[in-house]
Amino acid sequence: MTKWNVYVTNEIPQPALDMLAEHCDLEVNREGKPLLKSTFLQKIQGRDAVLCLLTDQIDAEVLRAANQAKIFANYAVGYNNIDIPAATAHGIMISNTPGVLTDTTAEMAWALLFSVARRVVESDNYTRMGKYEGWGPMLFLGQDIFNKTVGIIGPGRIGLSFAKRAKAFDMKVLYTGNKANPQFEHETGGQYVSLAKLLQNSDYVSIHTPLLPETFHLIGEKEFKQMKNTAILINTSRGPVVDELALVKALETGEIWGAGLDVYEWEPKLAEGLSKLDNVTLCPHIASATIETRTKMGMIAAVNIIAAMKGELPPNCLNPEVHKSSSRQKT
Ligand code: DGY
Repeated sequence: MTKWNVYVTNEIPQPALDMLAEHCDLEVNREGKPLLKSTFLQKIQGRDAVLCLLTDQIDAEVLRAANQAKIFANYAVGYNNIDIPAATAHGIMISNTPGVLTDTTAEMAWALLFSVARRVVESDNYTRMGKYEGWGPMLFLGQDIFNKTVGIIGPGRIGLSFAKRAKAFDMKVLYTGNKANPQFEHETGGQYVSLAKLLQNSDYVSIHTPLLPETFHLIGEKEFKQMKNTAILINTSRGPVVDELALVKALETGEIWGAGLDVYEWEPKLAEGLSKLDNVTLCPHIASATIETRTKMGMIAAVNIIAAMKGELPPNCLNPEVHKSSSRQKT
């Protein structure tokens, strides 16, 4: 079998690169930042496969330039950065990395929730700055978590993992999505409600929905008005699910109490005013960033490329019809 020529658009954990290097000739962008589009378009020409990141916009122009590519393996579970219909039209398979980052991402959503509710970052800064002069009964009063109500938007894999952990804090779980999910209810005791009811009744709202046309700005001005003034919003999914300017306003005016964000509408840029607020914890899209999980994500992307190279259907192929029609052509 001829070795495939693979381009990796950024450094990923070494075990995944080693795995790919056993089977393929590799070039890795080691500049530590995404390539300029013009360089990217050149780099992918003549490659059999590309291992890309969620920061790479894989649009029709890119897919056209990848004149020999059989697969783009996305190093993420989300794939809103890829024009899948255009990839299918070009006969290019697309894969993602589902499953391995579920619990890691759910844990990060909890980390943000705790951080905002108990004002961890704010009080850490205060202590470091030498402002702590002694215990005070009114110092950094936060919100209890136990016995409260948590609302989960999107009861998929990550939403379920997040919800299961709510049991440990004796919380009531509400959830909303396209339809009721009996497995979710069985595992979490969660109650299916409308988005409006969830927002009105939740002390914590955690977003776990993919970015789709119908989830763009799912939470905006109207929704912030429906939330409790004491509510905290957590977003570890995709930034544009929340109208970020409306969020800044809701946080400034006290319409909601706080927010914990790992993703942003114009990532990596933040909406004007967001970083000036004390009632937010802001992280740089690190929900899946543990050594174990980022390594597994790389291995999965590598496995998908290697399967494609062997003529097999990559296990996480999002457009399997491309594989079917190419194997039909061969027989
Ligand atoms: C994903 O995989 O979609 C996350 O946003 C990054 O791991």
